[in-house]
Amino acid sequence: MSRGRSWGVFRERTHSPNREVDDAEILRLTGKHLEERGFDVVLKSPDELLAPAEGPPDFVFLMCEGAEVLRQLRNWETGGLRQVNSPVAVLNTYRERMIAQFEEADVAFIRSALVSTAASPRPASLPVWVKRSDVHNTQDGDVVFAATEEACRAALEALARRDLPRAVLQEHLEGDLVKFYGIGTGGARDGGPPWFRWFYHKDQTVAGHPLDPRGLARLARTAAAALGLEVYGGDAIATARGDLVLLDLNAWPSFALYRDEASAEIAAYLDRRLTGGAR
Ligand SMILES: Nc1ncnc2c1ncn2[C@@H]1O[C@H](COP(=O)(O)OP(=O)(O)O)[C@@H](O)[C@H]1O
Ligand SMILES: [Mg+2]
Repeated sequence: MSRGRSWGVFRERTHSPNREVDDAEILRLTGKHLEERGFDVVLKSPDELLAPAEGPPDFVFLMCEGAEVLRQLRNWETGGLRQVNSPVAVLNTYRERMIAQFEEADVAFIRSALVSTAASPRPASLPVWVKRSDVHNTQDGDVVFAATEEACRAALEALARRDLPRAVLQEHLEGDLVKFYGIGTGGARDGGPPWFRWFYHKDQTVAGHPLDPRGLARLARTAAAALGLEVYGGDAIATARGDLVLLDLNAWPSFALYRDEASAEIAAYLDRRLTGGAR
């Protein structure tokens, strides 16, 4: 007998540049583990959710990020549909919302300023990163390293031409770039120890700055909690002074280096979380 009907929702292809296969693979494997646990699993594209042929299932696990499909999922949430990540948490990863939430929660996040792409604001420091203010990198021009004021202005103008009214300017921080993945919120609500992995990004020469792994896990978890994310990944910088600064936090990443382990872990988490075990 089925333990429940579920849908897994793929990420929009445009939101997975160069990661289409990795992104699809982690969702598929998670679905496979859920089936082994006795759940009915149907995988769907975001488009299929916008024109559903049938009513929503018992729970949904999702990698989609588009505003329209998230709106649809929030409507179903009001009707009691359980979801991981919650659609609001995914919406919270839109850069300008993320920055506001991190400020509120006092998360050690990279210094950022929200600016209008129509104005030509002077960056507080150079070099500077110019990033679109909503979704993360989907194409060239969305996340730009600008070494000069002219390059900064050009990047803003390019965003303005694409009808993107706002951008985020971020200070460029030197240090060792680390990537991390996390599953679960930890503590009593979760019913299991949170899963956390990190590694040095491969395209760099690691300086070997001091890095406290427990501090990194805590930073990641605090940031995820601030947005309401349960399955997440992100980037941080370990500075020469030993500080850890968060650069970015994303909902349900590809978990590429840890796919087998992570998919089993996510399925176990979903089982606890969505079938009444925790919360
Ligand atoms: N403020 C910054 N300081 C140093 N490196 C940065 C900064 N912002 C971005 N980067 C580099 O650019 C990469 C992509 O930036 P990120 O904000 O994670 O965008 P996205 O995930 O949308 O591609 C980071 O992993 C890091 O290597
Ligand atoms: Mg990133």
